[in-house]
Amino acid sequence: MSSKRVFVVDAGGRGNAIAHAFARSGNVQRVFVAPGNAGSEMIEKCRLATVQGKPPKTISEMLAFAKQEKIDLTFVGPEGYLSDGIVNIFQEEGQRILGPKREAAILENSKCWAKDLLKNLHVPVPRCENFDDPAAAREYVLQFCSENPGQGLVIKADGLAAGKGSVVCSAEDEALSTIERIMVNPKLFGHAGERIEIEKRLEGRELMFFALSDGRTVQPMESALDYKQAFSADEAVAVRLFNKLSNNPNLENNPNTGGMGGFSPHPWLDEELTERIMDKIAVPTVRGFRETAGHEYVGVIYFGLMISEEREPSVLEINVRLGDPETQVILPRLETDFFLLSEAMLDRKLDSVPLQWSSDTCLGICATSGRAIKPLSSAGGGERPGYPGDHYTNMPINGLDKVDPDVLVYHNGTAFASDAAGKRRLFTTGGRVLTLVARAKSLAEARIKAYDNIKRIRFNGIRYRKDIGQGYV
Ligand code: GLY
Repeated sequence: MSSKRVFVVDAGGRGNAIAHAFARSGNVQRVFVAPGNAGSEMIEKCRLATVQGKPPKTISEMLAFAKQEKIDLTFVGPEGYLSDGIVNIFQEEGQRILGPKREAAILENSKCWAKDLLKNLHVPVPRCENFDDPAAAREYVLQFCSENPGQGLVIKADGLAAGKGSVVCSAEDEALSTIERIMVNPKLFGHAGERIEIEKRLEGRELMFFALSDGRTVQPMESALDYKQAFSADEAVAVRLFNKLSNNPNLENNPNTGGMGGFSPHPWLDEELTERIMDKIAVPTVRGFRETAGHEYVGVIYFGLMISEEREPSVLEINVRLGDPETQVILPRLETDFFLLSEAMLDRKLDSVPLQWSSDTCLGICATSGRAIKPLSSAGGGERPGYPGDHYTNMPINGLDKVDPDVLVYHNGTAFASDAAGKRRLFTTGGRVLTLVARAKSLAEARIKAYDNIKRIRFNGIRYRKDIGQGYV
């Protein structure tokens, strides 16, 4: 009997996909989303949450909403609310809410803290050191580079930086200028960069690994191959133009984004590697965190890993949530009832719920606000480099009605508003705008379907990578 009322806290495409997963449960009658976006209302059973006519944004407004609507279960998507203690605050008021508490969110909101914990637990990590003094960081780089010529480094802001706080440096001068740009001027990531981690750049293949934890049992989820860099390998001219318009002296730097798309199942994460990651990383981290910090980790845990040629995993970072856009291609494949699964995690009964997945492939492409010149008729025009740099919003979106009905369109940054003629229309509100997800029996079919459909969507500056899934078909 579908009677349950669920509340999803998330503003993006991941939130659309989580809401969609709950809406598919036979136990769920209604899904509310906040802050949400225009897409949150386009999914069956889903509505944008409102309190006194306005979307709740602060934790106390969300709590008021959950009480007012007699919500049975709240699920939190983004790290910011988790770091701010939304789970602690809801639970103190007797609400059922799924996600790690503030004390556990430190695994993502302090990269330095997390690496120190992992080192103590003997979980494999690259050689790394933490710094809060730029002079000491520079000295470390000079010494490291003289002792290890040709070896790359990765410099990471300690705090939350919307997935953009990690800079890969292939040479000493690049590492020194990155320290300057993060810690001194222009303080690229604000307070998040007051402390940094400097890590040896490992060779291998990156893997995003997702698991569920009820504090005692840890279960692996399916994964996705994701595309973090803004541009594909054959877009060198676009990369240079992006950096020129962003005033970045390193013209060849292909910037990292929150993600430009991906596909699931992952092409090379097999059972043996999954087991190895569970045994060496996921289980010891959750258990060690409980034993060291004294708190249970409940919710999704997401490891950014480097897998060596010998298939040995090392942890590059931990996130305390589902990924965006990985969720948009992973969750549509979940066949287990997402409401019952979430309940089982909260009730410490995860060991009683087997995860079942469809063997279909889901391939997602993110449509972003790319380089654009605002029309001369508008105030404050000029050329902007586009996501992940400075970009325009409030661009009208067309063509969604032309997308095939079996193709999923999860919204990352959209809102309804009136145009100049007073007509209600969909507009862009962010750097990532939409994730279009095609599902098929094979990767090749999903790829054709996704690219065929995304061409039908139009807005000023629309840009997406053309190579999602290429080379794996
Ligand atoms: N896709 C990267 C993230 O969610 O952090």
